[in-house]
Amino acid sequence: MREPGAPENLIIQEVAKPIIQSTEVLVKVKAISINPVDVKTRSGKALYGQLKNDDPVIVGWDISGEVVAVGKEVQQFTVGDAVFGMVNFPGHGKAYAEYVAAPEAHLALKPSVISHQEAAATTLAALTAWQVLVHLGGIKAGQKVFIQAAAGGVGHFAVQIAKHFGAYTIGTASAGHADFLQSLSLDENIDYTQENFSERVQDVDLFLDSLGVDSVAQAIPIIKSGGQVISILGGCNEENQANAEAAGVKATNYLVQSSGNDMKELAHLLTTGQLKAHVSQVFAFDDIAAAHTQVETGRTRGKVVVTLD
Ligand SMILES: NC(=O)c1ccc[n+]([C@@H]2O[C@H](COP(=O)([O-])OP(=O)(O)OC[C@H]3O[C@@H](n4cnc5c(N)ncnc54)[C@H](OP(=O)(O)O)[C@@H]3O)[C@@H](O)[C@H]2O)c1
Repeated sequence: MREPGAPENLIIQEVAKPIIQSTEVLVKVKAISINPVDVKTRSGKALYGQLKNDDPVIVGWDISGEVVAVGKEVQQFTVGDAVFGMVNFPGHGKAYAEYVAAPEAHLALKPSVISHQEAAATTLAALTAWQVLVHLGGIKAGQKVFIQAAAGGVGHFAVQIAKHFGAYTIGTASAGHADFLQSLSLDENIDYTQENFSERVQDVDLFLDSLGVDSVAQAIPIIKSGGQVISILGGCNEENQANAEAAGVKATNYLVQSSGNDMKELAHLLTTGQLKAHVSQVFAFDDIAAAHTQVETGRTRGKVVVTLD
């Protein structure tokens, strides 16, 4: 990308192969996944500010592919391994490329039972759901977990992870996603176009917000004292923090971080079939602008993947 802007600002250009550091591996990329943060960065928001000094800026963080070279200090991977992960987030992943230099600490071995497309999909969005529910949320069996935008990238992984831990899950999505969410064993689906969740639900232990300030404001009164809301869209502003504190609710904003250890946990769930990426659309690398246009709708089910095969 030479300049931020429309999806068409993503251009295909030959650049030198990245040179790996001693703790990095060189990955020949087979598939990439596209996230809202990619779209926001492409349009000059989100992480663009910290990437803009590169020319061209190479957007992207989520990859699955094959190791073709390893740095001197790399211990976990060898040439020929299939690996996947979210590279250098929040930083410069440079993932929209045939070759990506990735710290070994950000990767895990790709389970052989899933495709590179499914693996690429189970990266930023899945790590977000995992880190929010497990590390911050301390999710436990029997808890009532509320997931906004349950049919989206983060949401559909969050539903499956919460079910895996034995939680009771409630999610929001428009009616067209009802069957999909039922297939993920979501316990209660609220069609946000027909009903306000805050009028139906109460006694929530853990609320995953991905919609922002208004959603968190509505969430606080339906969360148990001692419960928590974690927003991945900056929904815990000062006013919401103060109201949450008064209600005995913990309110936190969170930004996902690259983690090979968490990728290994996801790989285990993918191997045992307890977690499955829903890839709703696959685009060729040449059509990456169309992939961005789809994610930009905000209506995507599961994940959008771009393939380099
Ligand atoms: N802080 C972090 O670390 C972090 C990490 C990942 C994502 N995020 C942010 O979290 C947000 C969600 O990410 P994502 O990857 O899950 O996005 P996504 O896959 O694009 O989400 C699409 C889904 O959102 C649903 N949706 C849209 N408006 C809704 C509403 N008002 N109520 C309920 N559902 C609604 C859509 O369902 P319908 O078709 O039914 O409308 C669609 O299924 C984005 O803003 C992203 O940037 C932050």
